[in-house]
Amino acid sequence: YGTSRINQRGHLEIGGVDTVALAEKYGTPLFVYDVQDICDRASQFKQAFAVHGMKYQVAYASKAFSCIAMVQLVDELGLSLDVVSSGELYTALKAGFPVERIHFHGNNKSPEEIEMAVKAGIGCIVVDNFTELTWLMAMTKSLNKEMDVLIRITPGVEAHTHEYISTGQEDSKFGFDIQSGQAAKAIEMIEANEFIHLKGVHSHIGSQIFETDGFTSAVEEIYKQLALWKKTLHFQPAVLNLGGGFGIRYTDSDRPLPLANYVDSIVKAVKHHAGKSGMDIPEIWIEPGRALVGEAGTTLYSIGSRKDIPGVRTYLSVDGGMTDNIRPALYQAKYEAAVANKMNESADEKVSIAGKCCESGDMLIWDISLPKVESGDILAVFSTGAYGYSMANNYNRILRPAVVFVENGEDHCVIKRESLEDLVRNELSFRAEAEVKR
Ligand code: LLP
Repeated sequence: YGTSRINQRGHLEIGGVDTVALAEKYGTPLFVYDVQDICDRASQFKQAFAVHGMKYQVAYASKAFSCIAMVQLVDELGLSLDVVSSGELYTALKAGFPVERIHFHGNNKSPEEIEMAVKAGIGCIVVDNFTELTWLMAMTKSLNKEMDVLIRITPGVEAHTHEYISTGQEDSKFGFDIQSGQAAKAIEMIEANEFIHLKGVHSHIGSQIFETDGFTSAVEEIYKQLALWKKTLHFQPAVLNLGGGFGIRYTDSDRPLPLANYVDSIVKAVKHHAGKSGMDIPEIWIEPGRALVGEAGTTLYSIGSRKDIPGVRTYLSVDGGMTDNIRPALYQAKYEAAVANKMNESADEKVSIAGKCCESGDMLIWDISLPKVESGDILAVFSTGAYGYSMANNYNRILRPAVVFVENGEDHCVIKRESLEDLVRNELSFRAEAEVKR
């Protein structure tokens, strides 16, 4: 993974930094991000577009992992930023991200969120439904501000992925349906409005996708509609946004494609179908989240208790679990791990890694071969950079971990570990006479 290697002490090193030393310095659980790996992946996407001489934007889907430092890195890499809530937008604005490169998504943007986006003057809003469209029309008018928009459509393409994370099929909470004419109606409404400018269309077909044909079919379906809308509505998109979803490697059984393959297939499909329908080639936008940060992240845990059930299984518990990585519990997601302080020892013991929550489903990894471990050893779980910290929670009142960026032998803490104080910060006593001890 990325810049990780085994150093002379037999420890796992990432970005030139000894992870065992990181665990000692910052405590565990700890998210470690390999900055170089993120940069390399951003370059792969950009290069892939550049060779086609295309106008494009690669927008990082900040839901995968957002914090001020991450947003600043995204800016440094020249990418755009996809936000889906006032929280992600606030983070972007606090980080000083160029507003014109921010895209706002979501199936239930509130009037307050729309106001925030319009006032900030962000690059575009991806309009998802009629409720939002009505609010946006009212807001832009009352603030006397203009806004570029894309409309999100559901092209009726199902990606080959876990069903919880497929969003492109017709029966979806996201976007305007095309078959029933809703998308066409939305286009007409926007085109008739003087404050909102329709730049193009958006579709996102799912996540952790390992084939390019989901994307090419989406392009094909979209162009069927575009050809129709060209005739009936005289509408041609300047932008075609095909969303994210590019698969990454969690375990050996995942075979991700080179990132350029996705881009190549998308670009070819767009050129082909645009040409066939006599349309100009639009700008192509994509929105990778996982593919930019997933493999760059590693979580370090301390091994705690051990339970041997003779002839059945050995449970090794770590000091985190579904509070910092809910994906195994939620999606039966699989991960690989290593013992960071015993990288050269042979993996001859089969164990299962349990989280610390009071819940049987809080298992991080079933049946993994590791060297013989003891309490205090450091377990490194790989590919936790996407939807790990961003989906972290305080179940059982467990504190959210710290996050560290590593690069060229240096470590930078970018999110501090939550404290017990933080946990009760917003809490008030119920009975007036009772006093909270602080
Ligand atoms: N664009 C849109 C409109 C999206 O809905 C998503 C993800 C992305 C881009 C980025 O997708 P990515 O490139 O990261 O696959 N929590 C789940 C993933 C949910 C993805 C939701 N939308 C997980 O942990 O697998």
